Amino acid sequence: MNITVIGTGYVGLVTGACFSEFGVQVTCVDKQAEKIEGLERGEIPIYEPGLDEIVARNVRGGRLSFTTDSADAIDRALVVFIAVGTPSSSDGSTDLSFVEAVAREIGKRIDSYKVVVTKSTVPVGTSDKVRGWIQEELDRRGDKTRFSVASNPEFLREGAAIGDFMRPDRVVIGTETGDDHAIAIMKDLYRPLYLNETPFVETDIHTAELAKYAANAFLATKISFINEVSIFCEEVGGDVQAIARAMGLDRRIGKKFLHAGPGFGGSCFPKDTLSAAHFARELGHEFSIVEAAIRVNERQQMRMVDKIVNALDGEAEGKTVAVLGLSFKPETDDIREAPAILIVRALLERGASIRAYDPAAMAEAGRLIPEMMLCKDVYEALAGADVMVIVTEWNEFRMIDLARAKELMAEPKMVDLRNIYDAERLAAADFEYWSVGR
Ligand SMILES: NC(=O)c1ccc[n+]([C@@H]2O[C@H](COP(=O)([O-])OP(=O)(O)OC[C@H]3O[C@@H](n4cnc5c(N)ncnc54)[C@H](O)[C@@H]3O)[C@@H](O)[C@H]2O)c1
Repeated sequence: MNITVIGTGYVGLVTGACFSEFGVQVTCVDKQAEKIEGLERGEIPIYEPGLDEIVARNVRGGRLSFTTDSADAIDRALVVFIAVGTPSSSDGSTDLSFVEAVAREIGKRIDSYKVVVTKSTVPVGTSDKVRGWIQEELDRRGDKTRFSVASNPEFLREGAAIGDFMRPDRVVIGTETGDDHAIAIMKDLYRPLYLNETPFVETDIHTAELAKYAANAFLATKISFINEVSIFCEEVGGDVQAIARAMGLDRRIGKKFLHAGPGFGGSCFPKDTLSAAHFARELGHEFSIVEAAIRVNERQQMRMVDKIVNALDGEAEGKTVAVLGLSFKPETDDIREAPAILIVRALLERGASIRAYDPAAMAEAGRLIPEMMLCKDVYEALAGADVMVIVTEWNEFRMIDLARAKELMAEPKMVDLRNIYDAERLAAADFEYWSVGR
């Protein structure tokens, strides 16, 4: 089978590479020529463990190719995936302009049957719009070509994307009622996972679109829930980690996403919760739990800034803060909506200077905030700092040489926003220590 994936970002590139690994013939399209030229030279534009090997192997095997020429790629494919970005607009709604541009491109081009699959996260009803945009373009040129639309939301996690794609908890496929042809093609495409006994949820399109938002809204709510519990712990004395363990061992609750910290960030939860709240409001309904999760998250991020300023004896002006971790989570270079970015900006506004280090996200973060000093490792970042702040729990931050850190720093202070150290160890090393909800 020939497929085309339009949008070669975190989702599109992983999707294309993994399908080619299954033996499918894949063309990945992106409008950014430099990204495609880099990929053709074997350069992976994002940090995602394991992706480089899969891309290289399948390019060598002739199953994976890259182009900026969407017209030719659409012609060749039976299935066309839309995997472009769906960012937030200023009112919280989802900006569908990239999806629309691709749908119209498809409509202008197709002259044989295709299944057009939306993999981008889109508000309920978008696939109907995709059908409409394609149809308008076909009508414009008097073409009667038939096509199917489908929704196949993506649930992969950055940093673990390959494993998540190859061994997903489930695959959701939404098709139009009675469109057996499209579902048969999608099943054929995903056959290696069917053989693996991956659970498939076959449903109508609106349900598939909503399932993605419901899942992300729920996970974001779980994070905000434990963050709110962490406030009680700080006020009345208590250990949020022990509470999370006590809760999480109950299988009805589960352990995942119950880690108190600096709030959720990344390219999905912030925009998807805003979008869910927005389209609920458009339907005349308040998605109250999600609205609350968003508010708690904003408050949590600001609480982290206060926590750091408090560690600086209430005054950030003229102080130096060593920020460890800039990406929104470990094992990715993605800094979109990363708590570190918000925290760094807030501290700069309050007159602090920032020495930062991240194993993967420095280039992008440096472009975004040129005022911060980028350091080559943890210890360079700590030199002369009044406090060290762990914002992202990269493994290499778990075993910092505290004796060396104390010698390098102006003040031996650590603010651990991921609770990866314990108070006794820091006390033994003569550090003042703050964490979240403990
Ligand atoms: N990143 C994640 O972890 C994740 C997980 C699940 C779902 N999603 C969803 O998947 C979608 C894509 O997310 P992403 O993180 O991969 O985005 P991204 O910004 O990394 O990649 C999008 C790519 O699409 C390209 N593009 C935009 N318009 C184009 C066009 N007309 N033709 C060709 N290429 C075009 C851009 O140049 C960019 O390279 C979003 O809807 C997101 O919500 C993301």
